[in-house]
Amino acid sequence: MTCRKIDGKAVALAVREEIAVRVAQLKEKGVTPGLAVILVGNDPASEIYVRNKGVACEKAGMRSETVRLPEDTSQEALEAEIERLNRDDGIDGILVQLPLPRHLDERRALNAIRPEKDADGFHLLNAGKLLEGEETVVPCTPKGCMRLLESAGVEMTGKEAVVIGRSNIVGKPMALLLMNAGCTVTVCHSKTRDLAGHTRRADILVAAVGKPGFVTKDMVKPGAVVLDVGINRVDGKVCGDVAYDEVAEVASAMTPVPGGVGPMTIAMLLQNTLEAAEKRA
Ligand code: GUN
Repeated sequence: MTCRKIDGKAVALAVREEIAVRVAQLKEKGVTPGLAVILVGNDPASEIYVRNKGVACEKAGMRSETVRLPEDTSQEALEAEIERLNRDDGIDGILVQLPLPRHLDERRALNAIRPEKDADGFHLLNAGKLLEGEETVVPCTPKGCMRLLESAGVEMTGKEAVVIGRSNIVGKPMALLLMNAGCTVTVCHSKTRDLAGHTRRADILVAAVGKPGFVTKDMVKPGAVVLDVGINRVDGKVCGDVAYDEVAEVASAMTPVPGGVGPMTIAMLLQNTLEAAEKRA
């Protein structure tokens, strides 16, 4: 079986070009979409993510504001900052970079964001709408995965989908999106017994584990489509959760790392912000 590489970098570029066109159209109406990113503390990985989000915004013609708060910021000070951005008419999307320092209550902070400005889709109201299958802002990484499946022409109705990982950011919303698209969905996690028994039934396999090379050839059904959400660093090199070379011997299509799901996450963040601005206009 020859395995097709799903080129997330190319799809993300096309999405971002389309977004730039829509941003230009909005600007003609006097509306410039704006995204605010709040970073508390100075986690080096978060620093890189936040910088990339700002650059991507500006490349798309959007306004970008990065709010840096010290590590010892209080819950009240963080929520005051969120409230300031809630009231700022130039800001359409607000993102609180996770994880927050341990003394802060993540759930309270995310729920302080006005649901219409929730660029990540992490507010409970938006999470609830996704659960109900209502149209809403969808978390960026799973939304990017769905876009990649569509762009690769993967038929989803009636397919067996297996998601490895049950996080609120990726695993759970991914499972809901696949279910809403007509898949029969299984969610596996660290307590799952006979993991490979589940994954070998998957027509669509999504790996969001956070362990390099976790998904091996023997775990994958011949012809499966495999999405690798992992971003792991091994000896300074970025790699995914899937042992790419060996799984490529059995899968029909697969996302690489880097250049797969990663670039889609930022593209979907821009899209969520743009859609909020279009609603405002
Ligand atoms: N940290 C890791 N992934 C994400 C994400 O998608 N959004 C936010 N806000 N923080 C993250």
